[in-house]
Amino acid sequence: MNESELKETLRRHGQEQVLRWWEELGSDARAELARQVGQIEWDKLSLSAEDGRRGAIAPIEGLSVAEIAARKEEYFAIGRDAVRAGKAAAVLLAGGQGTRLGSDAPKGTYDIGLTRPLYIFEQLVRNLQEVTSACGASIPLLIMTSEKNDCETREFFEKHDCFGYPREDIFFFRQAMAPCMDLEGKILLEDKGRIALSPNGNGGWYSSLVKAGLAEAMAARGVEWYNVFAVDNVLQRICDPVFLGATIASGRASGAKVVHKAEPHERVGVLCLEDGLPSVVEYYELSEEMANLRGADGNLVYSFGVILNYLFRADTLKAIADKRLPLHAAKKKIPYLAPDGTFVKPETENGYKFETLILDMIRYAGTCLPFEVVREREFAPIKNKTGTDSVDTARALLQKNGVEL
Ligand code: UTP
Repeated sequence: MNESELKETLRRHGQEQVLRWWEELGSDARAELARQVGQIEWDKLSLSAEDGRRGAIAPIEGLSVAEIAARKEEYFAIGRDAVRAGKAAAVLLAGGQGTRLGSDAPKGTYDIGLTRPLYIFEQLVRNLQEVTSACGASIPLLIMTSEKNDCETREFFEKHDCFGYPREDIFFFRQAMAPCMDLEGKILLEDKGRIALSPNGNGGWYSSLVKAGLAEAMAARGVEWYNVFAVDNVLQRICDPVFLGATIASGRASGAKVVHKAEPHERVGVLCLEDGLPSVVEYYELSEEMANLRGADGNLVYSFGVILNYLFRADTLKAIADKRLPLHAAKKKIPYLAPDGTFVKPETENGYKFETLILDMIRYAGTCLPFEVVREREFAPIKNKTGTDSVDTARALLQKNGVEL
């Protein structure tokens, strides 16, 4: 993008302040700023009236823990055969900033060991290795990073010899970044020649995979299913053959591991039907009546809490990639360079980060199998340093499941 194109683009979008210090910048800094502006996906930065709209909500049919147990061997065999045939790939979402944990390093490098080091990445690799050993097959592990943590993540895996996972089965790819804006919708700068950017949310994982050429590479390997999961749940089963087998057997285009909600107002997204399509509704979007609604068995009707472990059939992802996912604007504290040139680290929220979310992809998949798992065995998320969903609670759950720390 040359200088006049750059100016015209920013003028068209009402963002001329991005060039406030243009005259002071050297040629390298100018080129870098132009590159950043050139990468902005403007069409994905404007909220649409549709983004917050919710349709008619109804419960969705899923498999309970008891139903899964009754057909476990059958599902396992289907899933194991799919893994052996090279049809499954694992996608680790590690592009987030993990701000709640309060560490600048990539979340997966966090050491949760007590008597010896045990890194989050290491524990996840171990969980996956259980499946590759049980199936006697390899599974490609695709790791999504962001511009902010890509080098550190790669170096960490390198330094630790990929925790024993075959190097040739690990593929890194970067997600895109989105500019941060102030409360008036103006793009913020973090330096005179640098826009304040943040990862554009986990909803972009598939388009980033395509951009990196990996979707094509996986198709060539025969991959038909992607198991996408969060970096922070250290107890989760990855490419779980039983989950894979049950989803294949159901004929549905996606699957979601869910836990039974602990109480009506637990702060988890709930898998349900929205206008007849599978959808994840945030806890605060459920009406009081729906949140408390119980069936004849006394159980909550809207009880499928999602844990960010999904299966997607590859052929449906191609169609989803063309859709516009709803944009979520999150109010955050964003460090920025003030017009007088001073760097400000705000104490209160001063702007927005923009994200698309993987949970919105479920709707476009058209069909989804809720697959219930036992919370104490498969859900130990590390979001915070202490308290709920923290390093402490995850450690206790790991120990309960026989992991030595
Ligand atoms: P979270 O919603 O917990 O966000 O991400 P986060 O950035 O990790 O943590 P906080 O909110 O700043 O404390 C859920 C999963 O999605 C990934 C995260 O790495 C995590 O595995 N993610 C999130 C991405 O890969 N990219 C993103 O842009 C955002």
